[in-house]
Amino acid sequence: MKLIIKGGRIIDPVARKMFFADVLVGEGKILAIGTDLGGEGEQCVAVDARGKLVAPGLIDMHVHLRDPGFEAKETIETGTRAAARGGFTSVACMPNTDPVADNKAVITYICARAKEKGLVNVFPVGAITAGCAGEQLSEMADLKAAGAVAVSDDGRCVANSGVLYRAMQYARMVGLPIIEHCEDAGLSAGGLVHEGYISTVLGLKGIPAAAETIMVARDIILAEATGCRLHVAHVSTAGSVELIRQAKAKGLPVTAEVTPHHFSLTEEAVVNFDPNTKVNPPLRSAADVRAVREGLRDGTIDVIATDHAPHTVQEKDVEYGLAPFGMVGLETAVGLVWTKLVLPGVLDPVEAIAKMTVNPARILGLSKGTLAVGADADITIIDPEREEVVDPARFASKGRNTPFAGWRLKGLPVVTIVGGKIVFRREGIIDGG
Ligand code: DOR
Ligand code: ZN
Repeated sequence: MKLIIKGGRIIDPVARKMFFADVLVGEGKILAIGTDLGGEGEQCVAVDARGKLVAPGLIDMHVHLRDPGFEAKETIETGTRAAARGGFTSVACMPNTDPVADNKAVITYICARAKEKGLVNVFPVGAITAGCAGEQLSEMADLKAAGAVAVSDDGRCVANSGVLYRAMQYARMVGLPIIEHCEDAGLSAGGLVHEGYISTVLGLKGIPAAAETIMVARDIILAEATGCRLHVAHVSTAGSVELIRQAKAKGLPVTAEVTPHHFSLTEEAVVNFDPNTKVNPPLRSAADVRAVREGLRDGTIDVIATDHAPHTVQEKDVEYGLAPFGMVGLETAVGLVWTKLVLPGVLDPVEAIAKMTVNPARILGLSKGTLAVGADADITIIDPEREEVVDPARFASKGRNTPFAGWRLKGLPVVTIVGGKIVFRREGIIDGG
């Protein structure tokens, strides 16, 4: 069965341009892009994309699917449904599961489970160290052979510089990027929110910006020393943005991502003590948010990734200090990117899409993120005019832990296509053609 997407505006993040064309899909691949592609007469499903943007399938390189081990929070099945509903056709999942994805067996399980139950493509990230404990290196060659696309101890920073140094040498040798969660545990210990005026007024222990920035500095030094590709996860401070900017100017192999919550919210969001605002790294100052947006604008920040971190209602519905860190992000990401970055002119649509397609694909070495003839037919259709109020009760994710409930977002994914199959269609989208 073929599929034709008609009348949409194509976003090509590789050539950095937009143009009107139809897209013909068959056998899981993009068969043609252009006008007068036919499709009539044959058995062909038509999707009316007039007034919509047709982008390569979005890639979220930082999600927690919680499977194996924490299936009450999320599973590969529910997490990939959330991804599809959020417009993502591929996700990279972090290894802080139970057991930790620090060995071949767990990576193999994730790939097999994703094949069986996953609605979108799943690319596992292996651990840097056994149990993400920061001591013994994992067998990165094994992890890569089993399907891992990167290594990370996300949720924790590799505290011991000697361990990270050797990890970078090993990762470089096997050709995997290191995704670092930059946090100096000595500086952040016991902290709940960003350290500043708000933490003082609320009487909540703070996490200073320096807890992140200091480790970004160390990691850049080690990336330079080893030649290992370093990707800095969830950048939240102005200092980190500046260090990454300098590293790139020196030509170092450093890339970085920012989450929608860190470019959309400041520390002010925590004043109602809503545990859904508790996240690590914490929501930062207005100056940090400005710096992060500037980093997105000037290209210092390559990627927008959600750090989708589902938790159960029971875990989150407790006093601030007791709640786990993390918020869900897959189903609000595109709306926040459009509402907070594209509509205000921080990023044009092509740049915004590049940060969710070709840029993460290149970092992880995936042959995805482009709309070219012969490429996998992973496609996301976005309606830039569509508005909706965020209602966590409608999430496909098991997680309801979002601080964006009730927000009106404009610019939403309306159709998600993975390998030529429609896996999500927002209500009210009717086939034309
Ligand atoms: O808020 C967070 N939650 N930050 C992390 O780094 C880990 C994540 C989780 O696994 O819940
Ligand atoms: Zn994470």
